[in-house]
Amino acid sequence: MKVLVVGGGGREHAICWKLAQSPKVTELYCAPGNGGIAQVATCVPIKATDVAGMVQWAKENAMDFVMVAPDDPLALGMVDALEAAGIPAFGPRANAAIIEASKAFSKELMKKYRIPTAKYETFTDLNRALAYIRTQGAPIVVKADGLALGKGVVVASSVEEAETAVREMMEDKKFGESGSTVVIEECMVGPEVTVLAFCDGEHLIPMLSSQDHKRAFDGNQGPNTGGMGAFCPSPNYTPEVAEQCMKEIFLPTVAALRAEGRPFRGVIYFGLMLTKDGPKVVEYNARFGDPETQPILSMLDTDLMDIFQSCVDGTLDKVAVKWKPGAACCLVLASGGYPVKYQSGYPISGVAEAEKLGAVVFHAGTKQKDSGEILTAGGRVLGVTALGASLNEAIERAYAAAKPISFQDMHFRTDIGKI
Ligand code: AMP
Ligand code: GLY
Repeated sequence: MKVLVVGGGGREHAICWKLAQSPKVTELYCAPGNGGIAQVATCVPIKATDVAGMVQWAKENAMDFVMVAPDDPLALGMVDALEAAGIPAFGPRANAAIIEASKAFSKELMKKYRIPTAKYETFTDLNRALAYIRTQGAPIVVKADGLALGKGVVVASSVEEAETAVREMMEDKKFGESGSTVVIEECMVGPEVTVLAFCDGEHLIPMLSSQDHKRAFDGNQGPNTGGMGAFCPSPNYTPEVAEQCMKEIFLPTVAALRAEGRPFRGVIYFGLMLTKDGPKVVEYNARFGDPETQPILSMLDTDLMDIFQSCVDGTLDKVAVKWKPGAACCLVLASGGYPVKYQSGYPISGVAEAEKLGAVVFHAGTKQKDSGEILTAGGRVLGVTALGASLNEAIERAYAAAKPISFQDMHFRTDIGKI
């Protein structure tokens, strides 16, 4: 099969790395890809959000299957456009990808189908939003409705902070139109766990549970990032919690989307908080998480192409998804200054040595020069991923493997998996 993966980060490298192991995949392409993906797939210089360009290229080059990984092309209807062109595509159509693209939509869905989540109200009027905050008091959470690169959420510890957040979103349009509708919700407390699940519109198979680390610095300090590391499985996700999530959250979500005429095919990302009243949904995403995908797919013991095809064909119930025993940890090596301001274009050394130590080094922001040299080309640069019999062993191996790697101003957290 000729397969195209859309995207170009660490998540897409992990997807390509796993697909390249499938005997079914004879030719693998990735658009736009990156310096590491170029080692397992042919990179095609088309932007991930260029829906028309992507469909045209896939048609002209006779792709048998396309996997759309990032949120924005999904929200833009890339899967719908590929299907209309007769090309099987993995990922939700726009009408199902909306569970990530609109927080107001997903909150409404959860309310209607009684899926546990934080209590909330939606506002399009600034003064009403401000009045609601004053009646509720702090702590309180303010969210821009639309996609805001993961930055549209403010967990406010005071009423003033919440008011400022609402003004910035609704009045100053800090996130553009994404903030003209805001969701204001109750602040939940408890450990956070992420569960990604394969879905074929009707059936659902959860992957290993995972946790990521969003803040830039040790001790969960500093600004929010795309994720500084991740590990799986999460020790907080006990079999009892898993059973409760399946019954109260996962299956009802798939059934709800189906009942609404928006069957979900692809990966649903359940961001969960394990509160004292049971697991509740923090957010849905309509795709694989980054960096959670890197450790999760490293643990997958089943042909990923088989799983993708069964999701598209509606036959996921016929597939046994198997996992390696133990745990996996992905340590992100970032450019100094990320996520605020950083320089790119620095040479990277030591990747081959890291891989000799048993890790897989997924590239996030890199590019390959014609000479073959790999340069930094983004905020998150590499994801050093290692397996272990226990979570501690996986963490130790990831850190040991990262030791030989260096580039100018390299920054990483020293507490991935420990907090
Ligand atoms: P989101 O983009 O919705 O995942 O929110 C980003 C982060 O904000 C989450 O990972 C949580 O840590 C936090 N958060 C979001 N909603 C709530 C909530 N209702 N209560 C407490 N924390 C929240
Ligand atoms: N790691 C968080 C996300 O992918 O949204």
